[in-house]
Amino acid sequence: MAPTQHLWWQHAVIYQIYPRSFQDSNGDGVGDLPGITQRLDYLHDVLGVDAVWLSPFYPSPMADFGYDVSDYCAVDPIFGTLDDFDVLVAALHERGIKILIDYIPNHTSDHHPWFQESRSSRDNPKRDWYYWRDGKAEGGPPNNWLSVFGGSAWQWDEHTGQYYLHSFLAEQPDLNWRHPEVVDAMLDVMRFWLDRGVDGFRIDVAHYLMKDPQFRDNPPAPPDAVTPYKSLADYDSQLHVYDLGNPDTHEVFRKIRRVLDSYSAERPRTSVAEIHVFDWSNWASYFGVNLDEIHMPFNFGLVGVEWDAIRIREVVDAVEGALPSGAWPSYVLGNHDEPRLATRFGAAYAPLAAMLILTLRGTPTTYYGDEIGMHDVPIPPERARDPWGKRVVGLGRDPERTPMQWDSGPNAGFCPPDVEPWLPIADDYRQINVAAEEDDPRSLLTLSRRLLALRRVTPALRGGSYAAVERVPSQCFVYTRRTEDDMCVVALNVSDIDQLVTLEGMTGTVCLSTYLDREGPEDLQRLILRPHEGCIVQIESAPPTP
Ligand code: NOJ
Repeated sequence: MAPTQHLWWQHAVIYQIYPRSFQDSNGDGVGDLPGITQRLDYLHDVLGVDAVWLSPFYPSPMADFGYDVSDYCAVDPIFGTLDDFDVLVAALHERGIKILIDYIPNHTSDHHPWFQESRSSRDNPKRDWYYWRDGKAEGGPPNNWLSVFGGSAWQWDEHTGQYYLHSFLAEQPDLNWRHPEVVDAMLDVMRFWLDRGVDGFRIDVAHYLMKDPQFRDNPPAPPDAVTPYKSLADYDSQLHVYDLGNPDTHEVFRKIRRVLDSYSAERPRTSVAEIHVFDWSNWASYFGVNLDEIHMPFNFGLVGVEWDAIRIREVVDAVEGALPSGAWPSYVLGNHDEPRLATRFGAAYAPLAAMLILTLRGTPTTYYGDEIGMHDVPIPPERARDPWGKRVVGLGRDPERTPMQWDSGPNAGFCPPDVEPWLPIADDYRQINVAAEEDDPRSLLTLSRRLLALRRVTPALRGGSYAAVERVPSQCFVYTRRTEDDMCVVALNVSDIDQLVTLEGMTGTVCLSTYLDREGPEDLQRLILRPHEGCIVQIESAPPTP
């Protein structure tokens, strides 16, 4: 398909903002919506992103920092007001930036009025909006399902003498999407935000929505099972065949898609969805048989990949191979649940990771701060906030959620000097920050901006085909991106030593190196890549494709 036929979300670079940590505008140490609005020039003029995804900003008791929603159609006062949201949407759209928001359909907060009603009595009309079950005759929860955050997925409720299901925290009871009123209410939530102008949704734990209607026990996991989720040891002891991903999940996504499509005549809306499924044909099923479900199921293959050229290529080839005809890929390397990539791959490899994610075929989602090389910040136990980390040392997600580093002033420009930010700021923020990197021609921020700018003006990078180049050193991942009239080669050296790459029969010009010191014609029969160097080469002539 020629790039001109693509829709905006296929050419977009999506930038994830964790609102608590982007910019505090009112001096309480927590980021907020007006803070994001203040920083839009950065997103537009400096970085040049096409869309933002906002992690949750809804009213919430914050047991799971907003992924426990107590009102889907409002803004938590800590983040501002609905008016602030409208101002933000208008300001983004004025700059031509689209907005996706988090949609959390699997569970509400236990403070949500729906759940409060549901738990009030066994005959409450909303009782079946959630999953309530008796315990086993011999005692204990209804089945062996486990919570991702540890322990049984069933919470005993003394008042009504039954258990309710929570795939995550007990404060996050699972909604019953087989109840037609739940479906109606949750689709209305989408309409509420679409009417306010959002361009799409990121759907939280989409593959959890539907569970086995018979509530059968999960079987034990064989010792060599691939674990689906970064999680506690007990969760990984089972194969999650009954507690998630029941086939009728697809019916729900078709309904969700119909709502999005009903708004798309005006301008196309989109969806990305969190699907921690690594069996690629199962993963691909979330596009829908007729591409009538999720526009872009997130593919997390590169998040956990061993940092090795062969392994990286395997993921990309597997994803490309599994895509249904006409489906559009997407890539992500980091988010608010995963160690930052500068920590995972090492600072030396952060530029290479940026080049990879921004040159593969598909829509990349980048995580705030990764573009400047923020790394995980060690959190002293007394300042830990994430419920996961409080339960099990080492699984906490606070280190990757720390405040954005804007400048070298106090609190990195995130909040006023006399205020304690909600999480500590990195010790080295005086070197790693936007202001310091903006004018530094060799910084990661400069590379990130140049990658985004190049992608924007290069048809092959935006929408061209992908093909891996064979006969390259095993520590290099080299691929072509091409349209009918435009061709690039991306050559990535995933090693700490020089590598010699031969691009047989090709001539061309290096237009960007991760070292930011190399541009111009090169002998592509002897392209030497320095340690962890990546290059984008604009190809002038190449042998015809077989
Ligand atoms: C996935 C979200 O990304 C994560 O932060 C959250 O804890 C769980 N879903 C539960 O909503």
